[in-house]
Amino acid sequence: MSSEKVQKLMQQMTIEEKIGQLIQLSADFFQDGQAVITGPMKASKLTLKTVYTVGSVLGISGASQVRKIQHDYLANSRLKIPLMFMADVVHGYQTIFPIPLALGASFNPETMKIASQVAAQESAAGGIHVTFAPMVDLVRDPRWGRVMESTGEDPYLNSVMAAASVRGFQGENLDNRHVAACVKHFAGYGAPEAGREYNTVDISEWRFREQYLPAYQAAIDAQALLVMTSFNTLFGVPATANQHLMRDILRKELKFDGVLISDWDAIAELINHSVAGDLQTAADLALKAGVDIDMMAFAYSKYLQKAASLDAKTAELIDESTQRILELKDQLGLFDDPYRGVSEVREHNEIKTSENLKAAQTAAEESVVLLKNQGHVLPLTNTTNVALIGPVADTGDLLGSWSWQGRTDETTTIREALTAQMPHLKYAMGSHYRAINLADMKNAINIARQQDVIVAVWGLPSSESGEATSLTDIKLPAEQLQLLHELAKLNKPIVSVIIAGRPLDLTEVTALSDAILFAWFPGSKGANAVSRILLGQVNPSGKLPMTFPRSVGQVPIYYNHYRTGRPITNTPEDAENKYQSKYIDELNSPLYPFGFGLSYAEIMIDSVKLAATTIATTDQLQVKVTLTNHSAVAGKTVIETYAHQNVAETVRPVESLIDFEKVSLNGNESKTFTLTIPCSRLANIHLDLSKQVDAGQYSLLVGLDSANLITVPFTLE
Ligand code: GLC
Repeated sequence: MSSEKVQKLMQQMTIEEKIGQLIQLSADFFQDGQAVITGPMKASKLTLKTVYTVGSVLGISGASQVRKIQHDYLANSRLKIPLMFMADVVHGYQTIFPIPLALGASFNPETMKIASQVAAQESAAGGIHVTFAPMVDLVRDPRWGRVMESTGEDPYLNSVMAAASVRGFQGENLDNRHVAACVKHFAGYGAPEAGREYNTVDISEWRFREQYLPAYQAAIDAQALLVMTSFNTLFGVPATANQHLMRDILRKELKFDGVLISDWDAIAELINHSVAGDLQTAADLALKAGVDIDMMAFAYSKYLQKAASLDAKTAELIDESTQRILELKDQLGLFDDPYRGVSEVREHNEIKTSENLKAAQTAAEESVVLLKNQGHVLPLTNTTNVALIGPVADTGDLLGSWSWQGRTDETTTIREALTAQMPHLKYAMGSHYRAINLADMKNAINIARQQDVIVAVWGLPSSESGEATSLTDIKLPAEQLQLLHELAKLNKPIVSVIIAGRPLDLTEVTALSDAILFAWFPGSKGANAVSRILLGQVNPSGKLPMTFPRSVGQVPIYYNHYRTGRPITNTPEDAENKYQSKYIDELNSPLYPFGFGLSYAEIMIDSVKLAATTIATTDQLQVKVTLTNHSAVAGKTVIETYAHQNVAETVRPVESLIDFEKVSLNGNESKTFTLTIPCSRLANIHLDLSKQVDAGQYSLLVGLDSANLITVPFTLE
């Protein structure tokens, strides 16, 4: 339906019907295929008549259910405007991919795109029209549970992954095997003070624009059709009421003209934030900020009709929002086919296919990070006498948070996957996640004593990851560490596998393990991926998308930090100089830096050459990087290219990622890769908040992680 047709439809709509489009209800209002107002829903004061005017519903899927509800809804809709179905399909619908933080660790945008593509295909077959993803909030604080939903701490990595995800979800033309992407949470939700969920975000607009804004911009440049407001404040005003953020930055500067939906109840929460004295004011503030859809705050349903009758501007804003919502429905093809070709047959044929499961396994294999491999304990090719120990060794809780219809009870466990390849494996749980008893521990020690190598699987449950799961202690639980200490007394090689949705303080684990595989929440086929990596059938290639601290006391700790006026020098003569930016009880450096990850191959950088060392600011950097694999094992790694601007009008990070390429080398192969990097990636935010590339002196820093780098100076003019 073109805009003219939308306009024509709007001319027929009553104000109630227009406001209805601005309301999103939860699944509770639609049961057994029809609208209902029961129990707690009564508090919304909605009538059944109103429910049959609402624009969208969240949290319902399943071909049969969606068809029934749509059919009933249309039968009761005067103008036959289809209902839109939205849901949080973040990293999979039934085939669950690794969590987004793990997909970030793949450093492979194609992997990210395929994950979103499969999630779109399966959720569209399940009747979903819009997914509340990708979440592109930049994160630097592992105490915050939602770091699992992000692709990490770097603006450039997040930007590339955000665009890849939007393209995967929406496809080329939003056909009925794709869904509309709703990028979230706009904006700055990933920077809550103290890592405490829903806490205040108070960063300067300069820092917001330099670090946090790029990934949202990349998602919108990739044509994301919706944006979701964030719960937090930004620049002193809650995002959902923030006209500067939503009108000036989102709509005007980023040129976003799609649908802006509030997060759950976020409009009503403006009262808690104390920027609205009542729900009517909250509704007014949100509408003025350009929020098109009220998700479950019942602010628009209660107050907009009266407001529209009193104030022409409100009526105009309601029209604007109604038009954006109807145009989205048109882009989804809902006016042509309100069911988007959904059927139980299609659902059966297109969900959890072997192809999709294979893609999920490949994504997991790309995302696992090898953090330590002392004495080449891995891969386990020389022994089958393995003791498998630990609370996470035999559980299907490998899907992570926001895994929609993923079924942990149907997910292969690491024990099952390993046993299939190692029949003589011996297993003992040894402890629970956060509990241990003497008998279990003794049994595990006995089993381990009989075997040559110990593979221990540690971690946190998915219930301690995702929304509303902030932690003050990011070590493994004491009970698990107690078991690890007991196992270490056996003086046998220990391979620790970690399942978690956030960076952990692995200081003790590192000291007591010979090898460490960080597997995140690796998804439906994650156990198979971990097993293949342990056995050397796959060479791990993941790199950390977030810094891993030595201690939670260092947090926030991130690689692209500023120098400060007293940078630590780490020189012997300065060892006694306490007047430097450092701690007296801990190092500044992380346990594992951003971009770090080992391989079974021994790939090193031989040389980095710039085609020219003086380049125009409007030109490109041409970089040749030669790598050699000093082992017979083929492997992948990531060429990470950073830059540092020596002097600028605002402080400059010690290094900023400007390019990354995941590359493969055969055994004993040398290869030269040519990188072409536009100088626009060197832009920085000036005092006047403009984004510009400055002429001047720079350093190019190239490495296989962010800490071990080859530096080449260059000049922009
Ligand atoms: C939640 C989350 C948001 C999600 C929404 C709908 O509170 O903050 O990410 O999309 O509600 O489930």
